[in-house]
Amino acid sequence: MAESNTDTKSSNQMWGGRFASGPDAIMEEINASIGFDKKLFAQDIRGSVAHATMLAHQGIISPDDKDKIVHGLNTILSEIESGNFEFSRRLEDIHMNIEARLATLIGPAAGRLHTARSRNDQVALDFRLWVKEELEKTEKMLTGLIAAFLDRAEEHAESVMPGFTHLQTAQPVTFGHHCMAYVEMFGRDRSRVRHAIEHLDESPIGAAALAGTGYPIDRHMTAKALGFREPTRNSIDTVSDRDFAIEFLSIAAISGMHLSRLAEEIVIWSTPQFGFVRLSDAFSTGSSIMPQKKNPDAAELVRAKTGRINGSLVALLTIMKGLPLAYSKDMQEDKEQVFDAAESLELAIAAMTGMVRDMTVNTARMKAAAGSGYSTATDLADWLVREAGLPFRDAHHVTGRAVALAESKGCDLAELPLADLQAIHSAITDKVYDVLTVEASVASRKSFGGTAPSEVRKQIAFWRARN
Ligand code: ARG
Repeated sequence: MAESNTDTKSSNQMWGGRFASGPDAIMEEINASIGFDKKLFAQDIRGSVAHATMLAHQGIISPDDKDKIVHGLNTILSEIESGNFEFSRRLEDIHMNIEARLATLIGPAAGRLHTARSRNDQVALDFRLWVKEELEKTEKMLTGLIAAFLDRAEEHAESVMPGFTHLQTAQPVTFGHHCMAYVEMFGRDRSRVRHAIEHLDESPIGAAALAGTGYPIDRHMTAKALGFREPTRNSIDTVSDRDFAIEFLSIAAISGMHLSRLAEEIVIWSTPQFGFVRLSDAFSTGSSIMPQKKNPDAAELVRAKTGRINGSLVALLTIMKGLPLAYSKDMQEDKEQVFDAAESLELAIAAMTGMVRDMTVNTARMKAAAGSGYSTATDLADWLVREAGLPFRDAHHVTGRAVALAESKGCDLAELPLADLQAIHSAITDKVYDVLTVEASVASRKSFGGTAPSEVRKQIAFWRARN
């Protein structure tokens, strides 16, 4: 799509009535948004078709003019889609580029389209429609990512791995349980997306510049035609509100943070030191100098994209925070933030879905790591509480002594001879060895939401029914 930049000093053909000369070149450059808002062409045309149809229905324009307008707009739509539309920076934005082309195509009838509306409600409409579609796309993509995790969780409901706190081995868990933690996170993100769609599902068109209009328009009709639940209720708020964009960005930031935590885990897990997972060739890169390397670049970039998304959220919050009601031109800066964040989020979800689906899980390596670091110490303490009637605090102390002894001997808890354990506490019997294995440890954690394979399978079934 070409963009022309003529430096003719004539005044703007849309609003130049009271202007003797055109804008300075710098004015034109700072003012124009066509470079990025041309992305809104389809939404702009849909909005204009609905508006013109309503104007004719209400007798505000003639059916004949409406037909010409709608036909012209459809011609413009195919011109833009096929790359045969010349965008002009002198015409500032997508709204005036399309209207000017309409005038060339159909003549004076084009001038009737802007009756009972303003670019203020027009841009609010176009942008809302765009964000709504993006949220719907995000919802689908999150569903795909959740499905990838559900499959991996099912496959690994019994695979034992170390669970961490402070990135120190804490207690054995299953890899399936760990995968389901991400299902919960992305499930919350998806429900935030659904709420955001509900919040923005109101049509701005007809708020006009800020005060509404004296023409007998039907805002319920345009709302319905454009797929909104209802029209917005306050025309001042309508043209000054960008909450829908900020809400999209905040959801993107939260989801990006989740994706980044996952990325960080993948980076750690795929190191030779951990060796828990191996990324597929499709989602890793080699080094130009070190032939042995396989780098998790996609995961690292997902981690980095989160920084960009956070930047966009802070940018738009800052753009909006000082604006008096209603519309101010500052608000034109909303779009690039949202477009950039949307692109980053889509890429990040797609890359993560691919990585999760493709990665090879090294269950032997995970199991070996699960047993190291005295990960079943809590199980020993719990056994002392259950079988020997010790208060938990005392059991904790006894277990601490057993860990210290094992550490000094350079062995695992399960490798300590019974005599050694009995020297620490006489109530210990050889039954204790049953709980010191990682499998017994995870199988025992059957509390609701716990890591036992039986519980993980319940969690999977719960989410399968909702995905
Ligand atoms: N390009 C503008 C924007 O993105 C459209 C609205 C312009 N309205 C105005 N009164 N100048 O916000």
